[in-house]
Amino acid sequence: MDKIKLNYEKALGFVSEEKVLSFKEDLQKHNEALQNKTGKGNDFLGWVNLPSSISEEMISKVEATAAQLKGKNIDIFVVVGIGGSYLGAKAVIDALSDSFAALKDNGNPLVLFAGQNISEDYLYELRELLKNKEYAMAVISKSGTTTEPALAFRLLKQDIEEKYGKEEAAQRIVAVTDAERGALKTLATEEGYETFVIPDDVGGRYSVLTPVGLIAIAVAGFSIREFIQGAKDMEVATGVDVAFEDNIAAQYAAVRNALYQDGKLIEILVNYNPKLHYVAEWWKQLYGESEGKEGKGIFPASVDFTSDLHSMGQYIQEGERKLFETVITVNNPDREVRVPSDEANLDSLNFLAGKRVDEVNKMAELGTMLAHVDGGVPNMLIELPKLNEYFIGQLLYFFERACGLSGYVLDVNPFDQPGVEAYKKNMFALLEKPGFEEETKKIKERL
Ligand code: PA5
Repeated sequence: MDKIKLNYEKALGFVSEEKVLSFKEDLQKHNEALQNKTGKGNDFLGWVNLPSSISEEMISKVEATAAQLKGKNIDIFVVVGIGGSYLGAKAVIDALSDSFAALKDNGNPLVLFAGQNISEDYLYELRELLKNKEYAMAVISKSGTTTEPALAFRLLKQDIEEKYGKEEAAQRIVAVTDAERGALKTLATEEGYETFVIPDDVGGRYSVLTPVGLIAIAVAGFSIREFIQGAKDMEVATGVDVAFEDNIAAQYAAVRNALYQDGKLIEILVNYNPKLHYVAEWWKQLYGESEGKEGKGIFPASVDFTSDLHSMGQYIQEGERKLFETVITVNNPDREVRVPSDEANLDSLNFLAGKRVDEVNKMAELGTMLAHVDGGVPNMLIELPKLNEYFIGQLLYFFERACGLSGYVLDVNPFDQPGVEAYKKNMFALLEKPGFEEETKKIKERL
């Protein structure tokens, strides 16, 4: 099997190989705890064997639903969700799509998102756009009560019913939610929406391989089978029977924790292809929510190079030395563009004539890595042979497995997110939500 690779050679000048290897035994135990569901948060470990346990029935149902929606000749598919109910699909679709998909017709609907913010402008402008388009929607919320998507869906549901009539609208809405509980489940049942279940034991940020991610990916025209196959192969490649020396999830968890213990508090996920911007956003949620608790955790940040070398590059090169970088590199671009020769050569770029643009990008990548290492920033490198469904499936599962392991090294529960409630409580108190009278009184005294 062709596999993504991890190279941590350029971190070893900062932490020793012995230090990295000192995590080996514990990581084996942590991997067994993930596999056998004996560690912290063990009621949320359904994602561990998800790739190998997705049924043919589920895959076929997702594909059939995507085909049925596309059969309505939709221009746009709106996915309503936030956090883990949005970032996975966005990450995969952006990684695989033409950079200008929004302006080109490739025969597939454009996937747009809503409910991932509470911006009035965003919602207004989306609703205006949809008025003149053919569209369908997925509303995704495990709890079914998250304010942002609930608010967006309330508006969009009225619009779609007004445009198509209640009966046809119900044929254009798919709900993805909890099996039994939750307001969205009740609504979906009452309205007769096609409904998919988010398994109880899979938390939002680990749910991209459930219908949460799969429906939008399928509607966008990508192969969910290839995506799942990639994840499935990575499930095997990071399993308990795989030795540390071959297990890239264990190695990544070991190196980042070794660096963290050495005072490297911030990890920057770097890409050299803007299609990976949302993979980094997804990764930030995964690692930020999983590890940032009990006063601990590496702060996950991200940059898009070379763009951000002209903004964040200065800081990374010479600012506080608390950073390390993990670079995602794609070995082979899909397209070929060569630098032309120019007779006048006013830009002095003729030395590049005939070279592929990707070669310039790769030299920028190598040069930056060496400069940052020289500047005191340890580097790790994740290599993808190319950007396709299969390798993105590998990459996302690799990050999930490593995140579970890394959280256990940190001795936190990587599968809860208690801190997310604090802003919600204040927001509800400020909005005077019934049931929050006491909190409203208290918060108003602080203003
Ligand atoms: O990882 C998580 O569980 C969270 O970030 C959720 O994905 C996010 O809060 C959205 O929750 P829900 O799907 O219940 O609307």
